[in-house]
Formats: sequence, structure tokens, C-alpha cells
Amino acid sequence: MTTEALLARDVRKTYSSRRAPSVEALAGVSLVVHPGERVALLGRNGAGKTTFLKIASTLLMPTGGTVEVFGHDAGTHPDEVRPMIAVVPQEGKPFFHLTPREQVFTYLRARGYDGAEAKSRTEDALGQMGLTEVANRLSITLSGGQRQRTMVATVIATEAPLLFLDEPTIGMDPFARRAVWESLRTLTRRGSTILLTTHYLDEAEALSQRLYIIERGRVLVDGTAATLKQELGGSLRVSIPNGERLSEVAKTFGSVLNDGEVLHVITTPERLPELMALATREHLTTTVGPVTLEEAFLRVVGRSIDREE
Ligand SMILES: Nc1ncnc2c1ncn2[C@@H]1O[C@H](COP(=O)(O)OP(=O)(O)OP(=O)(O)O)[C@@H](O)[C@H]1O
Ligand SMILES: [Mg+2]
Repeated sequence: MTTEALLARDVRKTYSSRRAPSVEALAGVSLVVHPGERVALLGRNGAGKTTFLKIASTLLMPTGGTVEVFGHDAGTHPDEVRPMIAVVPQEGKPFFHLTPREQVFTYLRARGYDGAEAKSRTEDALGQMGLTEVANRLSITLSGGQRQRTMVATVIATEAPLLFLDEPTIGMDPFARRAVWESLRTLTRRGSTILLTTHYLDEAEALSQRLYIIERGRVLVDGTAATLKQELGGSLRVSIPNGERLSEVAKTFGSVLNDGEVLHVITTPERLPELMALATREHLTTTVGPVTLEEAFLRVVGRSIDREE
């Protein structure tokens, strides 16, 4: 039996405070990440993703349950787990008084790499994240996206066996995001394992081999993006703004999802003309596209990932 990179069993976390009501952030999360896998946690704001990552990366004790990292218990043996992991925390910032080059290098030295190895890894990671031109500027003078790239460079440079990345591409432009994806794919090809969170469903689809959807501290489903989309039962999404009055008849065309004012009908190419004719008769506009993870998320959670409330 091979040891899993991460094995979480029934992890619970309730934040208690004397001044505020307690919050049940995790209500029994069980999940597994196999060695060499890239897995994404998806969930709306407050779902419990960061709490889970903090527990798995030894920063926070769970109220119940266990997390093992390569067979070592993160709660009881954090010192054995820490050398095997590296973390990009949510809203982490590089040290303001260090340059990206100093930041990455210093971190690698602190993790025990010798000077020459740390230097070559630093240059490689700065290059991958497109930071070479700004590598000697104080981090305080960098743009938000450049700072975030510095955080990611710091962690990918470690090539730790298990990387936790909490919304790693937040604030990055599309090119920088793709550079991160490429670096993370390269890392797993070389044997690292990755657990990340993201609100970008295209990112989850492009990058992760498997994903978990979390809502209110519970895992609702896990699977590949492809299987979650297949479960919708059609390959096309027809979106009809203000299409509420069609929701009954729309069910005869396939799955029907409500996203606020917009009715989405998941259907097959054969049924498309009929459905569009129906909408036109009702003077409703339609847009048609391939089904995406957005619709799978909407079906599982009942609300889209970026919807407030
Ligand atoms: N230190 C804390 N004390 C009390 N409650 C907390 C604390 N940290 C988080 N929470 C609460 O726990 C729940 C889960 O928060 P968490 O940060 O894990 O969510 P998340 O899925 O990472 O959300 P986001 O997408 O906004 O980053 C939320 O209801 C949050 O308000
Ligand atoms: Mg979070």
C-alpha cells in the first residue's frame, strides 16, 4: 500500500470565542490526495477551504478528526510534517524589506538548501514567474500581482513533496496565471503533490486532475471536472435571462438551473433549435455555449461560486 500524500478523516473545526458566537467552519471533511496529484478545493466564500488548508499545513489544530501527510499526523507530529510541505497562504505578502530574489533565496536557505542550490533554484523560480526584471526591487514597490507571483515563486522553488496553495493566482493577469499553471504541472511531473483552492472554475478545470466542492464545512462532491460536467446530462448550456416562466417546460429539454434572474438549460445539440424557438416565441434572448464547471457547481451547490448571500 502506498502512503497517501494527504489523508483527512472527518476533520472538524469550530472557532470559539468569548465575545462572538462560535462558528462551525468544518463539519467533518474527509478527503484524499494521492502522491503526484493536483487537487483543487472549490467553494464559496466562507465554505471552509482556508481553515482546512491551515489544519493540513499544521498552522491550526482541528476540533476533531485527523490529517495525515505522507503518513504523519499533522496535529500530533507537526515537526515531521513541516519539512515535507510548503504553503502559499491566502493573502500572504512577501517581506516588504526584501527583494523577490532575497525573499526566495532566504526562504530556501532557511529550509536547509546550501547556497549554490538555493541560488540556482531562486533564479529558476523567478524566471518561471516572470520576475527576473523586478527581482532586485523591494517588495514594497511591487504591484499586487508581482507580489503574489513572488509568493508563488517562493513556494515552487522549494519543490516540497506537498504544496498547499490558497488562491495562488488571485490578482494575477491571465499570462501570469498560465505561468503558474505550467509551473505547477511541471512540479507534479517531477513528483510533487499539489492541493490548491481557487474561485476560478476555469483554473480548477485547467489545472486540477480531481476536485472537491465544499460548502458550509462539508464536502458535497468530488470527481474530475469531466465527470461533474457529464452528470449535468448534456453538452450545451442555453442561458435565458428572465426565463423563469419557462422553467417548467424547459425541464423537458434537460437539467434546469436557476442562477438569480438567469435560467440555464442543459441540453443536447439535437434539442437546441426547438428550445431556441420556444424562447423566441416568448420574446426572450438566449446565449448558447458548451457546459462548463460553472453549471456543475451551480447544480451541486445551488448557487454560483461568485454569488453573494
Ligand atoms: N479565526 C476565526 N475565527 C472565527 N471564525 C472564523 C475564523 N476564521 C474563519 N472563520 C469562519 O469560518 C468559516 C470558514 O472560513 P474559511 O476562511 O475557512 O473559508 P474559505 O472557504 O477559505 O473562504 P474564502 O473563499 O472567503 O477564502 C467562515 O464562516 C469564517 O467566517
Ligand atoms: Mg479562504
